[in-house]
Amino acid sequence: MATETQLIRNISDTALWAAVYRARETERPDAIFRDPFARRLAGERGEVIARSLPFSDRATWAWVTRTYLFDYFIMEQLERGADMVVNLAAGLDARPYRMALPSSVRWIEADLPGILDYKEEILGSEKPVCVLERIRLDLANVKNRKDVFGRLGRESQKAVILTEGLLIYLPAQDVATLAEDLAAAPGFQRWILDLASPGLVRMLQKNMGAQLAGAGTLQFGPWEGPEFFTPHGWQPLEVASPLKTAAKLKRLSWGMHLASLLPASNGRQGSRPWSGICLLGKR
Ligand SMILES: C[S@@+](CC[C@H](N)C(=O)[O-])C[C@H]1O[C@@H](n2cnc3c(N)ncnc32)[C@H](O)[C@@H]1O
Repeated sequence: MATETQLIRNISDTALWAAVYRARETERPDAIFRDPFARRLAGERGEVIARSLPFSDRATWAWVTRTYLFDYFIMEQLERGADMVVNLAAGLDARPYRMALPSSVRWIEADLPGILDYKEEILGSEKPVCVLERIRLDLANVKNRKDVFGRLGRESQKAVILTEGLLIYLPAQDVATLAEDLAAAPGFQRWILDLASPGLVRMLQKNMGAQLAGAGTLQFGPWEGPEFFTPHGWQPLEVASPLKTAAKLKRLSWGMHLASLLPASNGRQGSRPWSGICLLGKR
């Protein structure tokens, strides 16, 4: 039998884990979004991984509102004329198949080869609603990513970058250089990302760090909050609270509902567990 530490063998296994929460949401009668591909993509392994992480299950509201808020910001940007979406570390995300996107939008998915091979095998001949391109790219390879960003940045006027569930695994220095490389691409104008506070990173590391060790260390939670990105070419335009959103959607336990009544705060959080879905604009 696999031990907990063997269950998550590498960073790409976290994509199976994330897909499980989209599958479970889809199966609810009152689903706030539906991803008809998620169950197949998550597979049995995804479900086994999710069941091995009860702390994560208790935060189902955080997974569901992350998807919901990314969807919201993406649609808002497309309505404002975005011509390209670049989903970095796309994993098993199926937005180009499940969302009502304009058919002319160019949607780029970049991730490591193994997970994209798996995804293509599962999705088979399913048809995306827009123009979809997949790029096998190791984002840690700075030269290759600059080449890709440069090409896409020249081919777009108003591109939106997504990094969903990626940055928390990176050292702050790597996030800073990634931000600078993204800012250097001419058409890259907006960036949607999820951000944790130092207090939340500590809490996640304490409760799930050992099981996630195969994927790396949960580490990025800058003390500056969303302002971290300002010296690196990006400024926060909007920050949405998954907790307050989950309260509005009536997805919280009583205890978390009480926590959601505290005043919203999007600046420095210190040891307070906090997360935000951030829309950044190029400076
Ligand atoms: C938690 S999953 C998130 C996947 C997807 N964005 C979602 O929200 O469902 C993290 C993803 O980051 C990808 N990833 C991590 N390091 C990467 C790298 N150096 N280059 C490309 N992708 C990477 C993994 O393969 C995995 O698909």
